[in-house]
Amino acid sequence: MANLSVDFCSVKFTNPFILPSGIITEVNEHKRAVEAGVGGVTLKSLTYEKREGNPLPRVWKYDCGMINSVGLRNAGIEKGSEEIAVFLKENKQAPVIVSLFATKLKEFLFLVEKIVPLNPPFIELNLSCPNVDDEFGKPLGMEKGAAGEIVKAVKKISVKVPFLAKLSPNVSNITEIAKSCENAGADGIVAINTAGPGMIIDINKRKPVLGAKKGGVSGPGILPIAVRCIFEIYEAVKIPIIGMGGVSKWQDVVEMMMAGATLVGVGTATYTKGMKVYDELKRGLSEYMEKEGIKELKELVGVAH
Ligand code: DHB
Repeated sequence: MANLSVDFCSVKFTNPFILPSGIITEVNEHKRAVEAGVGGVTLKSLTYEKREGNPLPRVWKYDCGMINSVGLRNAGIEKGSEEIAVFLKENKQAPVIVSLFATKLKEFLFLVEKIVPLNPPFIELNLSCPNVDDEFGKPLGMEKGAAGEIVKAVKKISVKVPFLAKLSPNVSNITEIAKSCENAGADGIVAINTAGPGMIIDINKRKPVLGAKKGGVSGPGILPIAVRCIFEIYEAVKIPIIGMGGVSKWQDVVEMMMAGATLVGVGTATYTKGMKVYDELKRGLSEYMEKEGIKELKELVGVAH
């Protein structure tokens, strides 16, 4: 096997594959991905209050991927942070990214203050859930002003824990949001969150399939959107990028790295191929590196520019 290890914000990952947030909902269940050999895991975004989530069905497969509207189902910060403390103690082989979501700046800061003492390797600020609107009708952090303001405030209280901003592709200019996060002190960018939102209609029932009618689109159909976003962000910022969105084959991994990703998230593909997808990707990537004479994955990052 070729050397698949990667340094990201001075943290060592044994391979570049990350489980994106929300693929697994229960904190302790993330050990399934760790046992399957993933490089790092992102936990489901935690919110201030416990959330039951949206009406069923919340997830639906279609020809080019998946559509979901989970509605940020999670235990809430009090119980969630206790579960995370245990998980962090028990899981040392793959770095853990704790993901947080809020609809108000004050709430975001409260969540960060609760998580920082647990000293996780990373915190991810989910600035981009498509299924929860803020009081003005759109998610917080979908424009550069609000995103920069959140990141700047978080930077002041997250001195020792590196944090990442997760961005939505559903904006007119993802580059300026990424830049504003970098200027405000973010340590890295995660791109992209799900696309859309989209809708699928059951033509027999004559109704949208999802309980919440619309949801975020993921899977192979959104890969070109993700690659374009990562390409543009790479040109705009110096901080490293975790690229994700539609990756299911080793060729997609290479493409995403060439666009500018240092680490690569693989989520929806675990629904179609199971957790063994990480082994398949490692094998494919390793053979490619040996064939091309690539010693370290960083040689591939951004070469398409
Ligand atoms: C949900 C959150 C997301 O960030 C996303 O991309 C899709 C779905 C959710 O919990 O509804």
